[in-house]
Amino acid sequence: MMKDWYDFLVIGSGIAGLSYSLIVAEKGPVAIITKKQESESNTNYAQGGIASVMSPVDSFEDHLNDTLSAGAGLCHQDVAEKIIKSGPSAIDRLIEIGVNFTRMEADQFSLGREGGHSHKRVLHAADLTGREIERALLAACHAHPNITIFANRIAVDLISHRYQGEITCGGAFIFNPRNRRKHQIKSAITMIAAGGAGQLYRHTTNPRIATGDGIAMAYRAGAKVANLEFMQFHPTTLSLVGKKTFLISEAVRGEGGVLCHSDGTQFMEKYHAMKDLAPRDVVARAIDTELKRSGKDSVYLDLRKMPADKIKTRFPNIYIHCLEAGIDITGDLVPVVPAAHYICGGVMTDVCGRSNVKRLYVCGESACTGMHGANRLASNSLLEAVVTAEFAAGRSIEEFEASNPPPLPSIEFPHSGDGNLPRERVIMSYNRRELKRLMWDCVGIVRSKYRLEEAVDRIELIRQSVQRYYESHSLSYTGIELRNMASLAGLIIKAAMIRTESRGLHFIVDYPDTDDVNWKKETILERKENRL
Ligand code: FAD
Ligand code: SIN
Repeated sequence: MMKDWYDFLVIGSGIAGLSYSLIVAEKGPVAIITKKQESESNTNYAQGGIASVMSPVDSFEDHLNDTLSAGAGLCHQDVAEKIIKSGPSAIDRLIEIGVNFTRMEADQFSLGREGGHSHKRVLHAADLTGREIERALLAACHAHPNITIFANRIAVDLISHRYQGEITCGGAFIFNPRNRRKHQIKSAITMIAAGGAGQLYRHTTNPRIATGDGIAMAYRAGAKVANLEFMQFHPTTLSLVGKKTFLISEAVRGEGGVLCHSDGTQFMEKYHAMKDLAPRDVVARAIDTELKRSGKDSVYLDLRKMPADKIKTRFPNIYIHCLEAGIDITGDLVPVVPAAHYICGGVMTDVCGRSNVKRLYVCGESACTGMHGANRLASNSLLEAVVTAEFAAGRSIEEFEASNPPPLPSIEFPHSGDGNLPRERVIMSYNRRELKRLMWDCVGIVRSKYRLEEAVDRIELIRQSVQRYYESHSLSYTGIELRNMASLAGLIIKAAMIRTESRGLHFIVDYPDTDDVNWKKETILERKENRL
């Protein structure tokens, strides 16, 4: 049964939320709220793996340099360095918890290579790394007597109040869509680990849960958000009419796969010295340019030089998925296009996940620690999430033990439109479709001032329509998500308009150059009219 009070409230059951919970649970009861089945998360779909320096020919310095170079001048070097140096111990911890990474020998991991990496340094569990990590973490959380996971509950808003002049978080408002019950969970410490926002785009690698709820909720509560314009597009997702988007891991190129046109002509040498293993922003933009030039629907991945047996053992999931879709990747060219994949921006935090809102921590894809700058290096996301979750747990415990949370004023559930059961649901599905299309067409891989200006007007109409519906109908899962999507889309467009230069993942034709004099800094947004 759900109680009204937990020492630690965690929103999200991906790698960040589960890793954090396992540590803070040593100090007190933890409630994990997760909006679908407990394993449904971006984590669960991660393929390539987790980057860490594990080989004697690799070094922290090289990993750091690769991270900074992909990040295009905006990484916080101190943050990236701390996270990278903590990689090996975080891997040990995951192994202790029960994660089985693929090994070549009993004492030697199989290390993959991905775009932007100068060495093989990506630990993986074949091509289902995320599923293996999620499985092990969930098993450990279930075994812990202090952790309760509440699946199919969606966090609506944070409980925030002003105490001694500072905005303070005291828990969250929760909705159970199955029985339509509303709850308030109060807590000494609240952790947002609610993942990313790929669902804001028409084509995405992300599952349905990735609607940016954590970032939108934190922003409404008064948290600063940063670098939202840096949406990463993964270069290679399977492109077949009528089929769901499916990621073809960058590790495939790391093992020798190359991009080409239908006649086999390769093109990456025109764009970067690292060719097919260039950083992701370069490869996605190159594909976009090639598609615009050729007028075709996709480019192709050519794996034909790789031995079929190797493909089947190294990428069993990708092999089977493609085969079921009618493509034998050991002999056929694989049609691929880019899709929205990872939001580099998020709630501004330090390396310990602390936001500017007291007692509110944010980790994983919802956070912007400064690690990724303007473009995340492949497989650095799982690394950042697991390491910062550990740091955040340490800081949370210190804060928890140092003082009692301030008394909470009585706060009503912030939604009152209970009279009207959702009837005109078509408005919501229409708005969701429009929003995703708008973001894809106007705020995509290559942007222009004209399209962004158009997007400002259109997203405001969508936002107003969503808000009107949200306020006048009873609470619904769809309404909660769409309100967050509209709010975050507006913020992404705003950030993209503000940055009048091109850098990393933000490429705008009107300002094609990088402007280090004026723009070597973060784009920070903060809610002006504060509801507190
Ligand atoms: P998630 O794992 O997404 O978890 C978020 C959780 O929050 C979910 O449980 C969700 O249901 C819950 N939630 C969201 N909103 C609410 C709400 N309102 N109320 C309650 N619960 C909520 N990164 C790498 O480093 N290496 C890879 O190989 C890699 N491959 C990837 C492949 C794919 C297909 C995708 C989509 C991503 C990949 N990434 C990879 C990125 C990486 O998986 C994610 O960035 C990372 O897993 C995010 O972890 P997280 O814990 O922050 O969020
Ligand atoms: C992939 O396997 O290509 C995804 C890796 C990542 O997003 O870091």
